[in-house]
Amino acid sequence: MTKDNGAQALEKARGLLASADAVCVLSGAGVSAESGVPTFRGEDGLWQSHSPGDLATPQAFRRDSRLVWEWYEWRRGKIRGCRPNPGHEALARFALGTRTVRIVTQNVDGLHEEAARRVAGSGDPSPALPLELHGSIVRVRCTRCSYKVPHRNPISTATPENLPSCPVCSALLRPDVVWFGESLDPAVLAEAFQAAQRSQVCLVVGTSALVQPAASVPLVTHEGGGYIIEVNPTPTSLSRLASLSLRGASGQVLPALLDGLATAGT
Ligand code: OAD
Repeated sequence: MTKDNGAQALEKARGLLASADAVCVLSGAGVSAESGVPTFRGEDGLWQSHSPGDLATPQAFRRDSRLVWEWYEWRRGKIRGCRPNPGHEALARFALGTRTVRIVTQNVDGLHEEAARRVAGSGDPSPALPLELHGSIVRVRCTRCSYKVPHRNPISTATPENLPSCPVCSALLRPDVVWFGESLDPAVLAEAFQAAQRSQVCLVVGTSALVQPAASVPLVTHEGGGYIIEVNPTPTSLSRLASLSLRGASGQVLPALLDGLATAGT
């Protein structure tokens, strides 16, 4: 298949999606960029001004939990002011339609879930709820026991004594995210790979596809004979495997790509 751009590529991509019974979506930071959430590796990306080793590892948290919490609280504060954009909403509408769609995200911002609930209204949002490979920044969990809860309200990081503690065992709470050097939840990962395996198309949106094992999700669809469609303003390491690369911002491309698609198999 050719990698032509513009309207022709969009129509080809709609054709592939229209004939697919099952679609897997892998999303990354780029899908939330238009909501105001910073990406990681772009010009203004978080890893340009911060070192992952100082802030996003279990060692960093053991060394200086206050500093790590301060950084996460800064990100949580930014995210509290962000709403889902038309890209999140188009994905949610698509997943709530007749096809089997599984949204797999590397994002920890909770915006796919917010879009799912908003679009579903009084209906059931669950088909559009994402598998969160890297956890969620709007949840906390205990560093010792199994306590885990949604948590959006501000956390005081002024002193180590102010940091939140577990109501069950009094140990320190931490953001419920996956840090570098930690394993992803095996059940979540297995579900993501199963979704990729049974899908005829993997739609890859707003990710540099550099972080494993997330970046392998589209490869599973590809190895099973399925297509990869990429939505990203710039080429990525996955572009060479993509049947179609739609070069644009996901908030604009996704509604044009997904809205009004024919029912699966028609
Ligand atoms: P990156 O920051 O690596 O990549 C973001 C991608 O989004 C880039 O390819 C951009 O070109 C693209 N992009 C930017 N604006 C866009 C827009 N409006 N529409 C569509 N695409 C856009 O972020 P991720 O690939 O998500 O992990 O990073 C993966 C993981 O690396 C993150 O989950 C995080 C990070 O370290 C952990 O924290 C464990």
